Amino acid sequence: MKSNVSREHRSAALVTGASRGIGKAIAAAMAADGWEVTGTCRNPKRLAAEDRIPGVRYLPLDFSRKASVEALLKKVKKVDVLVNNAGSGSIGPVEEATIEKVRALFEDNFFGAVRLTQSLLPRMRARGTGAVIFIGSMASEFPRAFSSFYAASKAALRAFAECLRMEVRVYGIRVSVVAPFFIATTFPQERQVKKGSPYAEAVGRVKQVRDRSIMAGPEPQVVADVVMDLLGKRRPRAFTSVGHRARLQAFLIRHLPRRIIEALSARRFKL
Ligand SMILES: NC(=O)c1ccc[n+]([C@@H]2O[C@H](COP(=O)([O-])OP(=O)(O)OC[C@H]3O[C@@H](n4cnc5c(N)ncnc54)[C@H](OP(=O)(O)O)[C@@H]3O)[C@@H](O)[C@H]2O)c1
Repeated sequence: MKSNVSREHRSAALVTGASRGIGKAIAAAMAADGWEVTGTCRNPKRLAAEDRIPGVRYLPLDFSRKASVEALLKKVKKVDVLVNNAGSGSIGPVEEATIEKVRALFEDNFFGAVRLTQSLLPRMRARGTGAVIFIGSMASEFPRAFSSFYAASKAALRAFAECLRMEVRVYGIRVSVVAPFFIATTFPQERQVKKGSPYAEAVGRVKQVRDRSIMAGPEPQVVADVVMDLLGKRRPRAFTSVGHRARLQAFLIRHLPRRIIEALSARRFKL
């Protein structure tokens, strides 16, 4: 899919987490549409030739290392579009999570994107144009047991993005959240369950349903198509869900009484 953005508005894009999955599909779609794309991953030197998209420049970015964002920004001078896609997942009971692991998850899914966005906004504001797209998750909209921290990190990202959108639109900067709902990638979920945990069996059931749903999900290209579509719009939507019947699911989540949503979640995840 081609974006309708005029040439001068689509010169340079930074896509985080472009080594595979959704980020790779977005980087490929943008490169094919003529964007000058910089893609990141933790170790580009280890990126296999078949995972490299022709024309995309790969740079290292690791949210677990404090200096990583600054090092990246020294090498990337101009960014018209920032796609905050990189992220990580976890599954486990709240009782058994260590706060260090929770903080690390928030670094990957929230603070990393915040720091990059903060650093790039001044240049976009000075030019009077730019776009920031956050890859959120429908996990923040639909309650799922043992996803408390992942869902919370994505809910924080959504709230942040929606407020930012109101803050910078007068400067010509467009902000959107794209929330995937089970896309066929190898997105890992770190299992944080203690030995002998009373929750172990239930976590296993939820994980099984989640893994099957991911495997049965559409290809990451559907997310890239949504991103390209948003980039082509003067006034892109604030929040777009994407995935198998994502629109219907988002509509039901918004309109059904919460007790029905909870019953549906318990049934779907066999709780
Ligand atoms: N797949 C789904 O069903 C789904 C659903 C909802 C939301 N999402 C969101 O979509 C985004 C992409 O997920 P995906 O499914 O495409 O997963 P993926 O295939 O595992 O890709 C994740 C990307 O993030 C990068 N990354 C991971 N940890 C990082 C860190 N600490 N610092 C910097 N980069 C890091 C990875 O790079 P490395 O090469 O360095 O590992 C990789 O490029 C995530 O934000 C995820 O939460 C996915």
